[in-house]
Amino acid sequence: MAIEGKFYGIGVGPGDPQLLTLRAVGVLKNVDIIAVPKSRMERESVAWDIAKVHCPENVRILELEMPMTSNKEVLQKAWQNAADQIMEVMHTGKSVAFLTLGDPSFYSTYIYLLNLLKKELNPEQIETVPGITAMAAAAAKVNQPLATGDEPLLVLPGVEGLDQYTEIPNVVMMKASRNLPEVLRNLQKSGGKAILATRVGQAGEEICELTEQDEMEKIDYLSLVLIRRE
Ligand SMILES: C[S@@+](CC[C@H](N)C(=O)[O-])C[C@H]1O[C@@H](n2cnc3c(N)ncnc32)[C@H](O)[C@@H]1O
Repeated sequence: MAIEGKFYGIGVGPGDPQLLTLRAVGVLKNVDIIAVPKSRMERESVAWDIAKVHCPENVRILELEMPMTSNKEVLQKAWQNAADQIMEVMHTGKSVAFLTLGDPSFYSTYIYLLNLLKKELNPEQIETVPGITAMAAAAAKVNQPLATGDEPLLVLPGVEGLDQYTEIPNVVMMKASRNLPEVLRNLQKSGGKAILATRVGQAGEEICELTEQDEMEKIDYLSLVLIRRE
């Protein structure tokens, strides 16, 4: 049976509801169903919290559980389950917009869901709407460049290995809560200015410059570090 609906992956930006694109807002105002990822069903969704001011009051919501785990089997099951639920409503001719933090193409679970939906839908039935990344919003907050001129920019997903890149003038450490101690050790070695940005644009936003003496242990998952060596 042909499927008539359309699937949208909407980047809602990092936190400030004013940082959604006009395209994202246009889709949210007109789509039939908004799919909201939740790390646990009883928790609020950060993406929904950002986007809700742009959505019609009684819009139908489809809550999808996306657990925060590195267990591949659990994740695979959750994504397949989410894809199945989306396909089920799309078979009734409805359009679905899936919300995702920041930009959908940048370290987002959206990509795993997208790969499953690509097997079921035609390319013209899928639209990914880009969003402002958390790193762009963090750099803007401190009026600092991510990179200028001919400088390279390295983005690391919070894994080990920062030590190998002491020559790179600009580094963004995503998922910084995983290894802030390594960022601090690296700063002691190579110098430079490091900004820790937590929950940019959201309630609880905190932005501070890290010093070599800092001894932070536990930080919020929604944190990144911008390192600049001039
Ligand atoms: C799964 S990635 C999602 C990235 C997102 N797609 C983007 O475009 O920024 C999650 C990581 O993004 C960063 N992040 C997302 N939102 C953030 C925010 N509002 N403030 C600071 N960091 C954020 C954190 O490093 C977090 O660990």
